[in-house]
Amino acid sequence: MNYEKQIQESETHVFKVVFPNTTNHHNTMFGGKVMEMMDEVAFMTATRFARKSFVTVSCDRIDFRKPIPADTLVELVGRVKYVGNTSLKVNVSIFVEEMYQNSRIEVVSGDFTLVAIDEHMKPIRIFEI
Ligand SMILES: CC(C)(COP(=O)(O)OP(=O)(O)OC[C@H]1O[C@@H](n2cnc3c(N)ncnc32)[C@H](O)[C@@H]1OP(=O)(O)O)[C@@H](O)C(=O)NCCC(=O)NCCS
Repeated sequence: MNYEKQIQESETHVFKVVFPNTTNHHNTMFGGKVMEMMDEVAFMTATRFARKSFVTVSCDRIDFRKPIPADTLVELVGRVKYVGNTSLKVNVSIFVEEMYQNSRIEVVSGDFTLVAIDEHMKPIRIFEI
């Protein structure tokens, strides 16, 4: 089945300001906070894709290629990259923008697998066949 239209329409973009309450002693964003934001965007993307209830079952390798400095803006982009029976995989990338300059670089990327569940927390098909 071709899901390209739904994938396109459910691509999810979230912007955040890198405020001091999200940074570590290096004055860059705390890795645990980054993963929390990525998981949330993966959840939003999956939900918008299928309009079903999802839980995260795993995340693949997350590459932190560059630090995310304080006083910048970040954009998280979630996009479905694989659709299984009851699970799907969402890639989440993070881009950093300077506040007062036109610059934008990709700094983090990772994949999250989420499973569609029913009211008893049992996996259900994402789409009926
Ligand atoms: C998600 C959960 C309901 C899956 O239950 P389960 O009995 O393992 O389900 P199944 O073995 O039938 O697998 C269901 C799907 O998940 C996939 N899956 C299961 N474990 C996986 C893992 N570790 N990594 C990737 N995919 C996985 C299976 O391949 C299957 O995909 P498919 O149907 O598309 O082929 C259960 O593991 C769970 O409740 N986990 C806790 C979730 C949670 O609390 N998350 C944090 C808060 S959101």
